[in-house]
Amino acid sequence: MSSKLKSVCVMNGPNLNMLGKREPEVYGSLTLEDINKGLKKSAGPLALDVEFFQSNHEGEIVDKIHALFESNTQGIIINPGAFTHTSVALRDALLLLPCPIIEIHLSNIYKRESFRHKSLVADIARGQISGFGHFGYQMALSAMADMINES
Ligand code: DQA
Repeated sequence: MSSKLKSVCVMNGPNLNMLGKREPEVYGSLTLEDINKGLKKSAGPLALDVEFFQSNHEGEIVDKIHALFESNTQGIIINPGAFTHTSVALRDALLLLPCPIIEIHLSNIYKRESFRHKSLVADIARGQISGFGHFGYQMALSAMADMINES
């Protein structure tokens, strides 16, 4: 394993900036800042350098993915929020990336309304984590470290 930290971006899509206030019975009581603080703590011991990005705007998320492509990011953990189910533009942008992608959802999207059962990201991601609340982000970070430190 090389001693250089590997860069990983944790991206969150629309309405995830409202975690803690938004439907806490579905999404939990932690804020996005709380979740990101926990990830920052875990990143060092996993030899990862983690950056965070959240936007409510599809085009801004696409632009950020382009920037990550240019900077050769080594992994993306993404909760695309509602864009999971709708955005061909997000899917096409992610297809640019040679690095592993992990899709994450706080809620179990398969236990919810049928329009949430379809993900436009699932088949291009290495894996999907859905239904473990905030802990899913920690699971995703560990899985990412394992994948990119092995390769
Ligand atoms: C979500 C699930 C999506 O269906 C929803 O639109 C979200 C959050 C989740 O984390 O469970 O915004 O991605």
